[in-house]
Amino acid sequence: MEQKLEAIKKDALASIASAGSVEALDEIRVRVLGRKGELTGILRTLGELPPEQRNIAGKKSNEIKRAIEEAIDSKTSSLQAESFSGLATSEWIDVTLDPPVSVREKKLGYLHPISKTQREIEDILTSMGFQILDGPEAETEYYNFEALNIPKFHPARDMQDTFWTEDGNLLRTHTSAIQIRGMEHMTPPFRIMAPGRVFRYEATDASHEHTFYQVEGMMVDKEISVSHLIYVMEEVLSGVFRHHVKVRLRPGYFPFVEPGFELDFSCLICDGKGCRVCKQTGWIEFLGCGLVHPNVLRAGGIDPDQWTGFAFGMGLNRLIMMQAGINDIRHFMSGDIRFVQQF
Ligand code: DAH
Repeated sequence: MEQKLEAIKKDALASIASAGSVEALDEIRVRVLGRKGELTGILRTLGELPPEQRNIAGKKSNEIKRAIEEAIDSKTSSLQAESFSGLATSEWIDVTLDPPVSVREKKLGYLHPISKTQREIEDILTSMGFQILDGPEAETEYYNFEALNIPKFHPARDMQDTFWTEDGNLLRTHTSAIQIRGMEHMTPPFRIMAPGRVFRYEATDASHEHTFYQVEGMMVDKEISVSHLIYVMEEVLSGVFRHHVKVRLRPGYFPFVEPGFELDFSCLICDGKGCRVCKQTGWIEFLGCGLVHPNVLRAGGIDPDQWTGFAFGMGLNRLIMMQAGINDIRHFMSGDIRFVQQF
């Protein structure tokens, strides 16, 4: 019995000494000390021995058990210490190195130039107290035309070729439709702006597109005059171009304003002296605007005897085309990432 115990001890201590990992030590623990282990098996047979031998063998087995446990514990700690000190070399990284190619080449997304310019205009106008409104892209004939003083069969309907839906609605041809929706919900005085996508049933070419973007603006207050309109337009354009621009008005016809104007701004290229871009005039034609027609105020539930207003509608695509020297409007909707990356 004693020899058997010594043999188990010797064998166990040798395996412990040569164990290379904590897992290997665990296996030894199970093999020798586990429920079905070698030493446990012997302890179970102690009862069969005569009492004096049983005492000696019992003591001996307990000593061996403790010796093996201690050996396993101390080997475990030394293995752990070794693996921690190894970390410094095995997990070492040079934090001053460039990131690996796979990380470096992850590209950031880009804002579309339309979104960028739209946000700039939103910032400028909201800083002047304009509130941003939204409206549906599929509109009714009432909001897009009738309420804007363009009754059925009015020749002005031909100014904007329209996509009609089968149920008699339409895709809005301009953001002016949002003026009416806005007025219905606001009590004067107020200032609103409405950016959005608009649609025209047009053959496309370098300067025509079926889908483009506008920003509508409207201010309603007491005794609004054309000078308020000019001031706001100068502020917006000077802000967008980061350069002081002058504006001028020419008479223009839009059914929803009276008087109505075409607004030009001083050419940025030649500063008004005359060049190829402005066709030697010193001015660039830009947007439609005017003082809100009484019929339009009335349609929005506002008394034209008490309140007055100005409104304007500008095309974002054309603005960016002039600013960035883009010669084909179709680039905006092309989905070509190389176009967007340039902004
Ligand atoms: N809705 C017009 C268009 O799309 C632009 C416009 C002109 C808007 C005059 C206005 C305005 O608010 O007063 O051509």
